Amino acid sequence: MDKEVIIACDFASPEAVLEFLDRFEEEKPFVKIGMELFYAGGPDIVRRIRERGHKIFLDLKLHDIPNTVRKAMRVLSSLDVDMVNVHAAGGVEMMRAAVEGLREGRCDGTRPLIIAVTQLTSTSREMLNRELLIPGEINDCIAQYARNACEAGLDGVVCSPLEAALVKEACGSGFMAVTPGIRYPDAAKDDQSRITSPADARRIGSDFIVVGRPITAAPDPVAAYRRCKADFCG
Ligand code: C5P
Repeated sequence: MDKEVIIACDFASPEAVLEFLDRFEEEKPFVKIGMELFYAGGPDIVRRIRERGHKIFLDLKLHDIPNTVRKAMRVLSSLDVDMVNVHAAGGVEMMRAAVEGLREGRCDGTRPLIIAVTQLTSTSREMLNRELLIPGEINDCIAQYARNACEAGLDGVVCSPLEAALVKEACGSGFMAVTPGIRYPDAAKDDQSRITSPADARRIGSDFIVVGRPITAAPDPVAAYRRCKADFCG
């Protein structure tokens, strides 16, 4: 699979995202639609962006009982998106149900890629051990959740680029690492702490990078996107 840069379109309204995408005249970037935009614009904003020819990662992080996730995934698959995700904490059976739902949502035998969130990057070891009562190191938990996702038939996980090697070691090189936390060393880190440049993410083994503010808040978003693409995709 070709490496791609995914732009995190964390905008509050459909108008704002469409205005942003209007700037891209020569290319059709792969875009990520998250909860804020989806809850504001609903399936309609997904369809409108799809109609413009963009690939879409619908980042809704489903986590519920298997039957509910299966039925929800049928609906998301029918929106013709290219990638969706779930929380691996929902377990292997829930993740299997998600894959089945995606297949059932289309009649042409295709399905979107599906990846799992292992542990959120906002989860510290302290929180893991004391609040969630999961003992040990975060990396052990990430590796086990990635193995569960692989066993359930998922295509990969969302993780920090710094965890990509761990995931590939646990699940094989074909298991995808989709990585946010991308920054250039000469730019603002914002609220990200464990950051990697696009070129380093490529070297470490990321398959897709998810880049938000370094592109959406750049003075020239198209130039910033092209720089990321050149450094990551080669
Ligand atoms: O603006 P920025 O490049 O930090 O955006 C990164 C995107 O990736 C955001 O949409 C954020 O919610 C998402 N993300 C993340 N860290 C994770 C999972 C998702 O930054 N562990």
